[in-house]
Amino acid sequence: MAVSRTPLIAGNWKMNLDHLQAVAFVQKLYWTLKDAAHDEESVEVAVFPPFTDIRTVQTLLDADKIPFGLGGQDLSTHDSGAYTGEVSGAFLSKLACGYVIIGHSERREYHAESDDVVAAKVQAALRHGLTPVICVGETAADLEEFGASAVPAGQLRAALAGVPADADIVVAYEPVWAIGSGQAATPDQAQDVCAKLRAVISETVGADTADRTRILYGGSVKAANIAGFMREPDVDGALVGGASLVVDEFAAIIRYQKHVGV
Ligand code: PGA
Repeated sequence: MAVSRTPLIAGNWKMNLDHLQAVAFVQKLYWTLKDAAHDEESVEVAVFPPFTDIRTVQTLLDADKIPFGLGGQDLSTHDSGAYTGEVSGAFLSKLACGYVIIGHSERREYHAESDDVVAAKVQAALRHGLTPVICVGETAADLEEFGASAVPAGQLRAALAGVPADADIVVAYEPVWAIGSGQAATPDQAQDVCAKLRAVISETVGADTADRTRILYGGSVKAANIAGFMREPDVDGALVGGASLVVDEFAAIIRYQKHVGV
């Protein structure tokens, strides 16, 4: 029997908002949701600020009892040592981060992160009690050559090597051609690939893990298209980039259950 999965709406800020802007943003988002009487239990919200903001955001969430999850956008494969510029999962854990994004296409492309590096980062996250948000997705060229699901399924299989059945993980299907392009996948396309990714989790880690793991769609998600994705049985949330930087837009995405007629 299928378990129910709490939807997760995650905001990947990328390299935007300094720590002062972060405070203003998080407070405004919280009050916007409060004013709209948003039911906190119905949808989990998480923000992924730049590293330099995390301590400040953590303090704010804690002081004002704001029920948002917090995560880093990357972590080191190592736990400590002579790795200039790297950030350990141990440090993220100490800052009360619950999540860390791993293998975002911008890391794969601009920092040459291979499937092996992504798998090592997943292990590093799990060592420090962080839930990895494992990003996978095909480029436009991959789509043409291999179809939609072959590349993301292969990336996920590699990332899950050695992941135990009791691990908490989140998977984000983000077609590279849809990221920041304004051209989102259709709900049907997202459902098709997310269902295949769930099958990969089932084969590699186990059926129970697959059943309880949240699979997000990402790539040009907006208030106007979120409801369509969330109607799909294998899409359990969204990883939102650009639209997560605009308070009213992100709040409307979080409140997708209230949208009528979309
Ligand atoms: P986008 O980015 O929502 O701006 O397309 C999504 C992402 O890169 O996670």
